[in-house]
Amino acid sequence: MDDQLAIPVGTTLDRFIMRKQEEFPYATGELSQLLRDIALATKIVNREINRAGLIALAGTFGQQNVQGEEQQKLDVIANIRFIRALRNGGEVCTVISEEEDHLIQTGNTNGKYIVAIDPLDGSSNIDVNVAIGTIFSVYRRVSEAGDDGTLADCLQKGAKQVAAGYIIFGSSTMLVYTTGCGVNGFTYEPSLGEFFLSHPLISTPREGKIYSCNEGNIRSFPEGVRAYLDYCKEQNYTGRYIGSLVADFHRNLLKGGIYIYPPTTNYPNGKLRLVYECNALAMIVEQAGGKATDGSGRILDKTPTELHQRCPLLIGSRDMVDKVHKFMAKEAVPTAG
Ligand code: AHG
Ligand code: MN
Ligand code: MN
Repeated sequence: MDDQLAIPVGTTLDRFIMRKQEEFPYATGELSQLLRDIALATKIVNREINRAGLIALAGTFGQQNVQGEEQQKLDVIANIRFIRALRNGGEVCTVISEEEDHLIQTGNTNGKYIVAIDPLDGSSNIDVNVAIGTIFSVYRRVSEAGDDGTLADCLQKGAKQVAAGYIIFGSSTMLVYTTGCGVNGFTYEPSLGEFFLSHPLISTPREGKIYSCNEGNIRSFPEGVRAYLDYCKEQNYTGRYIGSLVADFHRNLLKGGIYIYPPTTNYPNGKLRLVYECNALAMIVEQAGGKATDGSGRILDKTPTELHQRCPLLIGSRDMVDKVHKFMAKEAVPTAG
């Protein structure tokens, strides 16, 4: 960590990755290459996202592009681009994606790594020009190299992540990631085609004043969460909800706050996906000094049983997460008499 203090703001992502690799004399450079592959795919997806408005316009002339091909939706495009970059890179044997039902075998049977990805998060915000994102987790395979990755490789608990990150396509594009030694954020400079270190060693405030949830569902929130939201209002906290998890999480990470997606009538296990969304953000928030739970235990300790399993999420500033838990515990205590 001390070494990182010597890596100045403005360092390019490539150089940063190289410097980090040098800190581990036995590192083979494969994880570094994997991160570069993700950065490359991000640049391509960023270009597609910025053109999305024009693509929609073109769509009004018959839903086809100039080659006469059907226009694809951005979440499909993002899925294809990330998978292609990871396949071409060679370090990943298997990709699992929120957009795919099954394991995607890259054919790189000697690849050491598994990547789980939500290629486009906040997809309902695409058409209205609001911030969206990408979320990814990297695991080391547990099966022997030399063959395809297995379901067991993909169903490791979040604590086993070797790296995790997200990309936010907002007023600027940022890539934020951790390899377990702190969290660093890089801002994209499109005219140079480079990411530059802009947010070194992000640490999230211990306490915050922002709460983020879809209050339209409040009637079906657990009693303890409702009581906590009343408390937030008594405290004059600020309510902020974009509806793109990445964007809500990113704001709260930097400013201090809590994001809550509890069980609801429509989503009895919460809406978010443990493997594609919750685990990566949980690793990042913990690395930044915050906390992530499912309302009863640590997200990173949950062993997934299914690729697409959903899970409640309470994530953000440590004291705020602890406070909701206190309200939820009261709910659980049977009243006397
Ligand atoms: P995705 O676009 O990857 O399906 O994820 C959508 C998620 C998440 O980004 C967001 O926070 C949440 O859905 C919003 O859900 P509600 O519309 O129910 O609030
Ligand atoms: Mn998502
Ligand atoms: Mn998605």
